[in-house]
Amino acid sequence: FVRALRSKGRKQLSPPGPWSFPIIGNLLQLGDHPYLTLMEMRKKYGDVFLLKLGMVPVLVVNGMEMVKQVLLKDGEHFAGRPNMHTFSFLAEGKSLSFSVNYGESWKLHKKIASKALRTLSNAEAKSSTCSCLLEEHVTEEVSELVTVFVELSSKNGGFDPRNAITCAVANVVCALCFGKRYDHSDEEFLKIVKTNDDLLKASSAANPADFIPCLRYLPLQIINAPREFYRALNGFIALHVRDHLATYDKDHIRDITDALINVCHNKYAATKTDTLNDSEIISTVNDLFGAGFETVSTCLCWSFLYLIHYPEIQAKIQEEIDGNIGLKPPRFEDRKILPYTEAFISEVFRHASFLPFTIPHCTTADTTLNGYFIPRKTCTFINMYQVNHDETIWDNPSLFRPDRFLNENRELNKSLVEKVLIFGMGIRKCLGEDVARNEIFIFITAVLQQLKLKKCPRAKLDLTPTYGLVMRPKPYQLEAELRSSGSSSA
Ligand code: HEM
Repeated sequence: FVRALRSKGRKQLSPPGPWSFPIIGNLLQLGDHPYLTLMEMRKKYGDVFLLKLGMVPVLVVNGMEMVKQVLLKDGEHFAGRPNMHTFSFLAEGKSLSFSVNYGESWKLHKKIASKALRTLSNAEAKSSTCSCLLEEHVTEEVSELVTVFVELSSKNGGFDPRNAITCAVANVVCALCFGKRYDHSDEEFLKIVKTNDDLLKASSAANPADFIPCLRYLPLQIINAPREFYRALNGFIALHVRDHLATYDKDHIRDITDALINVCHNKYAATKTDTLNDSEIISTVNDLFGAGFETVSTCLCWSFLYLIHYPEIQAKIQEEIDGNIGLKPPRFEDRKILPYTEAFISEVFRHASFLPFTIPHCTTADTTLNGYFIPRKTCTFINMYQVNHDETIWDNPSLFRPDRFLNENRELNKSLVEKVLIFGMGIRKCLGEDVARNEIFIFITAVLQQLKLKKCPRAKLDLTPTYGLVMRPKPYQLEAELRSSGSSSA
C-alpha cells in the first residue's frame, strides 16, 4: 500500500495496516472469527487501520470514540454502502439497506420506511387488552411457541429450539408486513423460511467475488447462489404487495405494506419525487422482512442458550416476573418494571455481539480520520464486537453478568445500556430497534413466565458462535417444562 498520499499539495498519511499478498490481500489472515483477529490487529495498529480484502482496501474502525467519530460526527462522509457483488443481488439497485446510491432520495426512502414502521407500531390492536397491533401479533406467536416447546419436549425430551423460534419470529414479520400468520407446517411458509435461511447462509459465506471483482463473471454456485434465493424471496413479497395494492383502504391500515402504500399514495405528497413507486414499495417490504427476521430469531436462540447455561439467572428473571407482573400476559410497558430482565437482554446483546460488524459502510467523499487521509469510496468495517468487549468500558468483558447494568438501587443504568453497540448509530442506524427490543422482551418474559428451560442432562453447551453476517450459536438442545404458577424454581 502507498503509505503517503498527496492531496491538494499536502502530504497526507494513509492509515497503518499489515502487509498484504497480491490479489488475495489479507483474506487468509482473517481466520474463522475475523472480529477477534481484527481486535488483535488493533493492539498493533490502533483504532483505525487499513487491510486489503482480496483487492479491496478496507478501513477497520474500533474503539467507542473512533466509532462515534465515524458514525455520528463525520456520519455524512461514512454513510454510503460499498459496491459489493453480494449486495448487488440483494439490492437490485433499490434496497434501503444495501444500495450504493446514497443521497437525498435514499434519505427520503429511509424516512418513509421509518414512518411506515411507526404508523404500524401505533396502529390499534384488534383486542382491547393489547396496546398496539405489534404487541398483539407477538403475544399470539409467543403463546403458540410455548405450546410447540411443550409438545416437542414431551415427545422428544431434548429438542433443538431453532426451527420453532424461526417460525414464530417469521410469523411476527409476516403479520407485520402482510397482516397474515401461517401455520408452522404450512408449505408456502416453510419454503419462504428456508429460502431466507439459504439467502443468509449464501450471503454470509465470504463471497470471493466481493473482494476479487473479476470473479463475478464466473458461473460458480458460491458466487451466484444468492441471486436465485433473492429472486424467490422477492417473488413471494411482490405477490403480497400486489394483492395489498388491489385491496388497500386508507381508513383501514392492516400492516406495514398498507402503511407504506398510505405514505406513498398520499395525495398530499408534494411531488412524485416525495414518494416511492410500487417496485420501490416491494423492495422496502423486502428490506424490512429480511432485516426483522434473522436478527430477532438469532437473538432469541442466544437468549435461551444463556438461560439454560446460567439457570440461576433464569431463576432471577422468573422471580422478577412473578413479583412484578404475576400471571398477566407481559406487555411492552412492563419493560419499565422488569429491570433485571432488561439487563439480561442488554448483556445478551453485548456478550454474544451476534452482529459483530455493522453492514459495511463506504465513504461518500474524501475525508480524514484520526489524522489519516481516507479517499472517497473506501469500504469501512465498524467492529461492534470490539466495542462490546473493550476493557476500558466493561469490567471483565468476557463474563456474562446482567447485574453490570444495574445500579446500587437495582435500577437499570441507562447510560451503560446505551454503550452496547448492536443496532449501529447515526444515519445508518437500524430502523427496527424499538420493534426488536419490544418483541424480544415479550418473547423472553412470556416463555419464562410459563416454562422452565433446562439443558439436557450431560449435554455440553458451547457458547462459541458460528461466524456470519449474523452469528448464530452452534445447534443445541433444551428441555422445557411447565412451571407451577408463581414458582421460580429454575
Ligand atoms: C440495519 C441490527 C432488527 C430493520 C441494521 C444494522 C444493524 C442492525 C447493526 C446496520 C447498521 C449500520 O449499517 O450501521 C439489528 C439487530 C436487530 C435488528 C441487532 C434485532 C435484534 C431489525 C428489525 C427491523 C430492522 C426488527 C425491521 C422491522 C433494519 C433496516 C436496516 C437495518 C431497514 C438498514 C438501515 C440502513 O441501511 O440505513 N440493523 N437489527 N432491523 N435494520 Fe436492523
